[in-house]
Amino acid sequence: MIKYITACAVALLLFGNVSAQNKNEAALQVKISGIIKKMTLEEKIAMLHGNSLFSSAGVKRLGIPELSSDDGPLGVREEIKRFDWNSANWTTDSATFLPNGSAIAATWNPAMANEYGIVIGQEANARNKIVMLAPAFNICRVPLNGRTYEYYSEDPYLNGQLAIQAVKGIQSQHVAACVKHFAANSQEVNRNDINEEIDERALREIYLPAFKAAVQEGNAYTIMSAYNKVNGYWCSENDFLLNKVLKKEWGFKGAVISDWGGVHHTVEAANNGLDIEMGSSGPYDKWYFADPLLAAVKAGQVSEETINDKVRRILWVMYHTSLSDHHPEGSIATAAHGKAAYDIASESIVLLKNDAHLLPLKANVKSIAVIGDNAIRTFALGGFGAGVKAKYEVTALAGIRSRFGQSADIKFAQGYKANYLANRTDEQNAGSDKPDQTLIDEAVSLAKTTDVAILCIGSNREYESEGHDRKTLALPFGEQALVNAVSAVNPNTIIVVMAGAPYDLNEIEKSDHTIIWSWFNGSEAGNALADVLKGIINPSGKMPFTFPVSLNDSPAFALNSYPGENLNTTYKEGILVGYRWYDTKNITPLYCFGYGLSYTNFAYTGLLTNKKQYKLNDKIAVTVNVKNTGAVAGKEIVQLYIKKVNSSVSRADKELKAFKKVTIAPTKTALVSMNINVSDLAYFDDKLKKWVVEPGEYKLMAASSSKDIRQVASFYVR
Ligand code: BGC
Repeated sequence: MIKYITACAVALLLFGNVSAQNKNEAALQVKISGIIKKMTLEEKIAMLHGNSLFSSAGVKRLGIPELSSDDGPLGVREEIKRFDWNSANWTTDSATFLPNGSAIAATWNPAMANEYGIVIGQEANARNKIVMLAPAFNICRVPLNGRTYEYYSEDPYLNGQLAIQAVKGIQSQHVAACVKHFAANSQEVNRNDINEEIDERALREIYLPAFKAAVQEGNAYTIMSAYNKVNGYWCSENDFLLNKVLKKEWGFKGAVISDWGGVHHTVEAANNGLDIEMGSSGPYDKWYFADPLLAAVKAGQVSEETINDKVRRILWVMYHTSLSDHHPEGSIATAAHGKAAYDIASESIVLLKNDAHLLPLKANVKSIAVIGDNAIRTFALGGFGAGVKAKYEVTALAGIRSRFGQSADIKFAQGYKANYLANRTDEQNAGSDKPDQTLIDEAVSLAKTTDVAILCIGSNREYESEGHDRKTLALPFGEQALVNAVSAVNPNTIIVVMAGAPYDLNEIEKSDHTIIWSWFNGSEAGNALADVLKGIINPSGKMPFTFPVSLNDSPAFALNSYPGENLNTTYKEGILVGYRWYDTKNITPLYCFGYGLSYTNFAYTGLLTNKKQYKLNDKIAVTVNVKNTGAVAGKEIVQLYIKKVNSSVSRADKELKAFKKVTIAPTKTALVSMNINVSDLAYFDDKLKKWVVEPGEYKLMAASSSKDIRQVASFYVR
C-alpha cells in the first residue's frame, strides 16, 4: 500500500511538473508572439545576422538584448575586440582551461561531461555570454582530421551520452549550448566546399545520433550548422538536415546558427532552416541575412512567417537563458573549476602499456630525467580555432616537480624542437619532422644518469588544428629518434604522449616501453599526470577511438574516400566507422576502441539478462559481476556490445549499446547493472526510411574493451 501511495505521489509530482512545464511553455509562446507583433521587419532581420564577430542585434526599445556568444570547447575564450580578432586586453577574462573533447570522451564518464558543462556555463555567465559555441560532437571518421582533438569519439552512442550531459551542464547555468557542427564535419581539407555523400543509413546510425540525443535528451538550445555540404547541399541550407530532421522529426525548438562564414545564399538558407548567420567580417548589413534577406522578404521569396519563426526561436533561447527569471551571475577560474578540470583530466589519462610494472613509480626513485618539449609546453592556445587565456596551466614538468620534487632530483632536457606553425605553408614547415641531434645528445647524457626517464612527446595545438588535417599518422618533430636514443641508455623509460588524435605508436609499442596517453588536458594537466605516475590516481581512461596499425587500414583510406575528388567524397564505408570497420573486416588495430589499462585487474563473471525473450517496447536489464582482483582500488569501464546473429542486413560485428564506469575496492566485487532499450537494437532501413528491430537472436557481450570480450550471453526479440 505504502509503495502504491508513493508511486502515485511520484506520478503526480512528475506529471504535475510536466503539465506545469507545458503551461509555462505555452505562456512563453504567447508572450513571444506578443513581442514579435510589436517588431518591425527591419528589427526582426537585424536579429538574424551578426552585428559583430560574436553577437547579433537585440531590440533595445523592447528590452531584447544582443545575442552574445563565445567559443568554445576548451573553455570560454578571452574577450576579443568587437570587430577584429585581436585581444580586447581585459584583465578579468582569464579562464579555466578544460580538457579537450577526446580527453573527456576517454573518461567514458557522463558525470565528467556534466562537470565540464557546469564550468563552461558558470564562466560564460561571468562574461555575460548567452551562447557558448560548444560542445563539438562530430564523429571521428578520419584519424588525420585536424579537429579530432575537439571532437569526442568514433562511436555514436558514447558521443550521445556525453553530449547529453555536456549540454545539460552548460544549460543548468541558463547559458545556451551550441552543439556543433551539424553535420558530418569530418575533415578540414576543403571543409568549406566539400560535398559529403553519405547514405541515409550511415547518417542516421552514425553521424546524427549524438545531435539527436543532445536535442531530445539534452534539450540543446542552439545548434551550429557545419561548413561542409551533405548530399549536395551546404549544411547551412540543407532542408533535409535542418527542416526535416532537426526541426520536424526531432522537435528542435531552438535556433540554428551558421558556422562563421558558412552561409552561401539568402533564400535557400532562410527557407531551408538556418536561423542566424554568423561570420568573421563586415560590412554586416551586406550579409546574406541582412539587406538581401529584407529584399527577399519584400520580393515574396521568403515569407514573413518564416522570419517570425526565426525570431521566435531566438527569443525562446533568450527566455531560457539571459532573460530567464533566475539567471545566475557566474564565476570564473575558481578553485572549484580547477578541481573539475583536475577530475576530468585524471579520469581521461589512458595507460597503454605497463608490462615491466614500472608504474606507479616506486618510492625509491631518486632521480628523474624529464625530457621533451611537451613537458614544458602549454596547450591552452595555439593553431587556429578556439583557445583559452588560461588563468594557469600546470605543465608536465611542473606537475612532476610538485609531486616528486621532495623525494627525487628532477632535471629537464628539451629533446626535440616543435618547429611547426599552423599558419605557415607546407614549404615553410618542411623539415619540422627531423630530429635535432644536439637536443637528442643532451637528453641522452641526462637520461644516462637518472633512475627513470619520462619522455613527454606527442603533438601540440599548432600541429593539430582547425583549418588543416595532418598529413600522416607519424609522430612529429623526429620524436621517434629521441625515443630510440633515450630508451637505449635508460631501461626505465616511460613514454608520455600528449595529443588529441591517433598516432603511429607501432615502434614504441613493439619495444619494452611503458606508455601513457595524456591529452591537451587542461589547467591541471601536469598535476593529473604526475598523480597517475605516482599512483595517487589509478588510470581509468579508455581510448575513444581506434589506433590503426597503418593509415591504410582505416576505412576512409582503405576505400580511397578521403579527402575526395573534385570537392566530393563518398562515405563508401557506410555504417562501418571506427571499430565497426576493423572488427567486421577482421583488421587488428594497434589499440582498439575502449582500450586502456589500470594498476589493477578486473574479472568479469555472471553476465545475465532479466529475461530471455523480449518485445519491442521492453528494456533489457543486464547485470554482470566485476571483481577487482588486484591490490589497489580502481575504476573499470564496463562496455556492453551487441551483435545480431544471422542478421538479414549487413551490420557491424559489434555495436556499443551501454557502458558504465564503476569504482571497485581491492578484492571486492561490484554488481554492475545497465539497461538497453530493445528499440535501440534497431538499424535504419534505407528503403522503408524507418528504424527496424529485426526479430531473432542477439549476442550480448560484456567487455573491458571492444576486443576484450569477457562474458557473452544471448537473448531473443520476438
Ligand atoms: C569554427 C567554429 C567556431 C567559429 C567561431 C569556426 O571557424 O568552425 O567551431 O565556433 O569559427 O570562432
